[in-house]
Amino acid sequence: MTTVEFRTTEALADAERWTAHNYHPLPVVVAEADGAWVTDVDGRRYLDFLAGYSALNFGHRHPGLIAAAHAQLDRVTLTSRAFVHDRFAEFCRGLAELSGKDLVLPMNTGAEAVETAIKVARKWGYRVKGVAAERAEIIVAADNFHGRTTTIVSFSTDPDARADFGPYTPGFVVVPYGDLDAVRAAITPNTVAVLMEPIQGEAGVLVPPAGFFAGMRELCTAENVLLIADEIQSGLGRTGKTFAIEHEDVVPDMYVLGKALGGGIVPVSAVAADRDVLGVLKPGEHGSTFGGNPLACAVGAEVVALLAGGEFQERSARLGERLHTGLAALIGRGVLAVRGRGLWAGVDIDPALMTGRQACERLAERGVLAKDTHGSTIRLAPPLVVTEEEIDLAISHLTAILKG
Ligand SMILES: Cc1ncc(COP(=O)(O)O)c(C=O)c1O
Repeated sequence: MTTVEFRTTEALADAERWTAHNYHPLPVVVAEADGAWVTDVDGRRYLDFLAGYSALNFGHRHPGLIAAAHAQLDRVTLTSRAFVHDRFAEFCRGLAELSGKDLVLPMNTGAEAVETAIKVARKWGYRVKGVAAERAEIIVAADNFHGRTTTIVSFSTDPDARADFGPYTPGFVVVPYGDLDAVRAAITPNTVAVLMEPIQGEAGVLVPPAGFFAGMRELCTAENVLLIADEIQSGLGRTGKTFAIEHEDVVPDMYVLGKALGGGIVPVSAVAADRDVLGVLKPGEHGSTFGGNPLACAVGAEVVALLAGGEFQERSARLGERLHTGLAALIGRGVLAVRGRGLWAGVDIDPALMTGRQACERLAERGVLAKDTHGSTIRLAPPLVVTEEEIDLAISHLTAILKG
């Protein structure tokens, strides 16, 4: 073993020794990153085709985002919401305008934004819709991924996420994803919301049947039920549009946003909705010490400005076509199926060849980072700053590992 390799080995052993084993990372120890590339502690470079599960849509250390963060670090970083700071309204207004909604409520992590949406929907159900106390129901999809809090895992259908973490929060009804009739059948007078991902990321980048969300929009409006789109992973340019649900020309009642909203620098999440929905919250009913802090708002406002220009959505749509054309050519050559939109793909590797984990390990050995999910699927989600050559490079490495 060379000294160089020793750095990675030692860092992996240290991490294993000192942290809870709630992840099973690939054996790569990142030291630096720039754009679509990361460099490990031993100087090896990798093309990042995971992009922090879409938290790095603008690439690592995007110059405009880093500049916004630096400038804010030199002014004020935290006030708590006990006071107002001078970046708060700017960020909230920008995100409200980007999403076409009246109001924004900033939080930190994605799970917190999902919790916010659940609380707002329940309160809206009691105070506006007139559901009897404690009876509110929210319809969710099988194979969902909305985060890791105890309430959210209560309606997960993944045993790893859920088992041993009960007792579970009641009030959720699970239906198959993409099945409009099942949603219709599950609606009762107590239904306050349907909460779903426009594309299910963790489940393997599952795109619902065409017309599903358009049908949901009609159904929810007719039944006085809120349509909540968890766009934490699918939103903010990832699929070639600002929001993935736009592919069906649908406007949900509430957007749940996170990941890329923090520009890959700080955790920033938010819900966006109109006043008749988000306006139900009163002082003291919900909040977070760090939610909407000055640093988060400075970065978030710059993220909104980047998206308002439309360049990243356009890149994702254009380069996504190249990615999907390249991947489609591998079907029957070690790949069973490919799904996705824009610069986002779920690739089912033939399990006879290797597992998804093995595919990711082999890709990492060749300098491409991706992440497996559910046995033999790998997820590809490069930063939206990726170039055509880099897409071709990643596909050539995938082609090579499939040949063995
Ligand atoms: C669709 C979706 N919702 C919610 C979350 C949870 O976000 P966080 O990990 O920031 O809590 C994720 C994270 O992967 C996600 O993909």
